Order: sequence, then C-alpha cells, then structure tokens
Amino acid sequence: MDKMDKDIEKIGILTGGGDCPGLNAVIRAITRSAIIKYDIDVVGFMNGYKGLYNGTIKKLDLKEISGILPRGGTILYTSNKTNLFKYRMQENGETVYRDVSDKGFENMDRLGVDALVIIGGDGTLTSARDYYRKGANIIGVPKTIDNDLAYTDVSFGFDTAVSVATEAIDRLHTTAESHHRIMCLEVMGRYAGWIALEAGMAGGADAILIPEIPYDIEKVARKIIERKNAGKRFSVIVVAEGAKPVEGDMVVKEMIEDSPDPIRLGGIGQQVAKRLEELVGLESRATILGHLQRGGTPTSYDRNLATRYGKVAVDLAVQGKFGEMVSLKGKEMSHVSLEEVIGQINKVDPKGEMVETAKCIGISFGD
Ligand code: F6P
Repeated sequence: MDKMDKDIEKIGILTGGGDCPGLNAVIRAITRSAIIKYDIDVVGFMNGYKGLYNGTIKKLDLKEISGILPRGGTILYTSNKTNLFKYRMQENGETVYRDVSDKGFENMDRLGVDALVIIGGDGTLTSARDYYRKGANIIGVPKTIDNDLAYTDVSFGFDTAVSVATEAIDRLHTTAESHHRIMCLEVMGRYAGWIALEAGMAGGADAILIPEIPYDIEKVARKIIERKNAGKRFSVIVVAEGAKPVEGDMVVKEMIEDSPDPIRLGGIGQQVAKRLEELVGLESRATILGHLQRGGTPTSYDRNLATRYGKVAVDLAVQGKFGEMVSLKGKEMSHVSLEEVIGQINKVDPKGEMVETAKCIGISFGD
C-alpha cells in the first residue's frame, strides 16, 4: 500500500449525463484502486447531480462492485437533466431556475467526502468545472459514445457504440441485397460524425453522411446509380443523426427543456431514405439504431480504457491535482485542465486521414 501524498480519506463518484458502456468499469477501477492501493473509502452519489443535491449515496466496497465489469449502464444511475448551478424548480406555481450548488458542498462536508470524481460528457463536466471553480476537489473522467470531447483521443463507450453500429450495418447489408433496396442506418453522435465514420468504414457502407461534411443528395444518388448500373442493385448508407444537406439544417426531433443541451436530434435517416428512393428508383428503408448504441456490455477496449481512466483519477486525487480531466494521448494516460476542455468539441476533420481513406476506397460523403 502506498503512502498518500495528500490526506484524502474518502472519494465520491458521480456519473452524469447519458449513460454509456464502461461506466461500471470506471466505478470498479476507482473503488478497487482507492481501497487496494491507498486504503481510501469510496461512496457513489446516486442519480448524477441529483444525488449530490439530495445527499443520496451508496457505499462502494469490494463486495458492492464485484461482478460489474461487463455490465452496461451504471450502478449509480444517472440523470441528464440536473444542473445544480441552474436548477429547475417550482415556486408559487411558476418554474424558476436557482443556483443550488451549495447543497452539494453541504452534503460532501456532511458525508466526509474529500474529493469527487465526476464521470460525464460535456454538460456534466461543465458543472464539474464550475464546482472546481467554487473550491471543490474535482477530477473529471471523459465519457461519451459520441467521442466528441476535446483533449482526449478517445472517450470510453465509443468503441462499443461503433461495434454495435458495425454489426447493424452487416445485418442491413444482407437484407438490402435480398430485396434490392437502399438501407439507411441513422446512428447517434450529436454534432460529431465519429460513430457514422468509423462504423461506416468498418461495415463497408457505400455512403457516409456526417455533420462535418454537408451533403448534396444528388451526389449520393449518383453513387447509388453507378452501383446499380454495375449490377449492384442495393446500397447501405450510414447517416449521422447530425448530418445535414448543403442547403439545410440538422433535424431536431424534440427539445428537452431542463437538459444542459436541450436539443435531441433524429429523423434525418428517414428523410435521406425517402429522397434516395425518389431519385434512384430503388425501394428504401430507414433504421434508427438509437439507444442500442448505449446499452449492454462494453467491448474489451472500453473496459480497459475505463479501468485505466479510473485508476489515474484516483492517483490525481491523491496527488491533489484537482480541476483536471483524465485523458488518453496516443497510447499514454494523461490529464488536462477542465478549463481547457469545456466548450471545445472534437469533430471529424473533413480533410483528415480517415475521411481521405474512406474516399479513396470509393465511399461517398455526398460532397
Ligand atoms: O451524447 C450521447 C447521446 O446518446 C447522443 O448521441 C444522443 O444525441 C443523445 O445522447 C440522446 O440523448 P437521450 O438519451 O436524452 O435521448
């Protein structure tokens, strides 16, 4: 057992925002590393920032976290609606927004939590940064299937989402071929096209439409017609939920008012399928993969990345390096200030090597 550089006796963990495969692997790694390496107690706040507000916790020990490594979801549950710096509440029959972040400090003091590891995406980590600014001992861990967080090469959950989407493309291929159809698969990713790009390439898609490269539907249709003329009377198109035509906007499915990012995208796959049917003359179908990309067991890559993140988060807490987010740079674990990370989006480079490779092997981006 190492001697602690700093006097941390209890670490809290909180998972916020949309869930993703690998969250339990991080919780497990933090708990095991804190207990085994440093003899530090660990508790988890339940339901994201809601638990910090209510002071609802679960004690995490080796027994509690046993068997959770391959499990999807988060044993601490999560919420993507709670922002304690702008908390939605009812007062005199009216909806008002209040800064209730002090409740979090009160609960951490009362429970003896010296440091808090916050696992989340952009919205969750923005509040983490705000807590750090107010004086809390915070470490951030990047989580999102979208892979859109800056200053880390990969966030855990992404690899699993890409695997699920790739399998979906493989399955769509066989039915597309049998029926001579165009199959459009809409995948998640918000304003970044990473899932569409990586799954589309791995699944051998004929076209990949991403937010970073606005598409011309006629150019996509031309690609499918070329295939048809060459005897391939079916095509598979992967459409990122944030994809948009050259002259047009992303398709907003709904607004979730009390969410840090209220916009929910969805529906572009159906629009693309309909237009392609009109332009090409082959029957088309759209599939929205949705939350299947977020559920279920993490890949081995995500389990190991999550485990490495969890271990480093505890090391940083013990060293008193607060206000930092754990990150992956190349093959090495690293860390970066939350101040730098927040507000930056990691997007696909339209001129980057991945897109160039895809284009070289004949994949259309509709540009
Ligand atoms: O950020 C993760 C993500 O799954 C996005 O890809 C998607 O746009 C969004 O969350 C869906 O959010 P919700 O679970 O609220 O529908």
